[in-house]
Amino acid sequence: MEQLNKSEVLILAIETSCDETAASVVKNGREVLSNVIYTQIALHTQFGGVVPEIASRKHIEKINQVIEQALQEAEVTLQEISAIAVTNGPGLVGALLVGVAEAKAISFAAGIPLVGVHHISGHISANYIEHKELEPPFVCLVASGGHSHLVVVKDYGQYDIIGRTRDDAAGEAFDKVARAIGLGYPGGPKIDGLSKEGNPDAIPFPRAKVAENEYDFSFSGLKSAVLNYLNSCRMKGEEVNRADVAASFQKAVIDVLVEHSLHAVKTYGYDKFAIAGGVASNSSLRAAFEQECGKRGIAFYHPSPVFCTDNAAMIGVAGYYEFIRGIRHGYDLNAVPNASL
Ligand code: KG4
Ligand code: ZN
Repeated sequence: MEQLNKSEVLILAIETSCDETAASVVKNGREVLSNVIYTQIALHTQFGGVVPEIASRKHIEKINQVIEQALQEAEVTLQEISAIAVTNGPGLVGALLVGVAEAKAISFAAGIPLVGVHHISGHISANYIEHKELEPPFVCLVASGGHSHLVVVKDYGQYDIIGRTRDDAAGEAFDKVARAIGLGYPGGPKIDGLSKEGNPDAIPFPRAKVAENEYDFSFSGLKSAVLNYLNSCRMKGEEVNRADVAASFQKAVIDVLVEHSLHAVKTYGYDKFAIAGGVASNSSLRAAFEQECGKRGIAFYHPSPVFCTDNAAMIGVAGYYEFIRGIRHGYDLNAVPNASL
């Protein structure tokens, strides 16, 4: 490992907001030296979704090991770390608490500054890792299991939420529809895969608009439409073409995400657009944005799939920008399950 010079800022980041136990070391906000993720997916699959109590317990069991591995892979010692960044919300409270308690303990024991990071700020900041030229301002669509936000990124760590979901998040809709057609958890990647064998125009599922705010989303009507379609097929004794259902549902979600996002980019007058969160790893969503942004001369950014789903590198990046603008948290830092951006 090269000799670190004093102007280099190394962030040790911890993320435990849901079902991934993750730690990472990030250099100068843009370079990921390690990115260790212990995923609990296999553990929760048998229950068809994340069981919060099981997630917390597994975080406790794995967190030390994951942090040690992150330091080892980055070839740095705790003494070289400039600050510890940790997701302190939003997320599952018990899961968040494990990361926050761990970060506070290391901060206290090793005398390293502590920085609490908002999970969504992390998702957005994942775009800075592989796009060294990307700087605010730009518009970002955050679509994950818990959130569907349209955000104006005014500056590093400075956000205006201009649209949000009124009911289900986009990822939540993927997970629920996947369960309904028997694909299991997590549904997003499974629908993504199965859709490639189906016809996206086979079933005309609705594209919901929210009258009060043109940037808001609503996915619960779409979810109900899929359930109704499945029921009516069953009643009529017709066989369900699962690939067509998956592809048509996915297209309905993507159409709405693309339309609202590009309308926002145009109205707010930006020429840069990014996507973030687990759903941003969807191959058809990326292709649709690639095409539509290309037509309009908008620069389109997206993280690699490993930086779209929950990881600690994104928390290290967001934490870096908080740290260099002087943000420090005390040992009263708490987990905030419904923290606003
Ligand atoms: O960002 P994330 O890892 O966790 C949250 O912060 O919620 O997002 C997880 C969500 C899940 O709902 C999952 O089904 C969805 O992202 N997801 C996908 C894909 N990969 C993950 N949705 C659609 N297509 C994918 N390829
Ligand atoms: Zn997330």
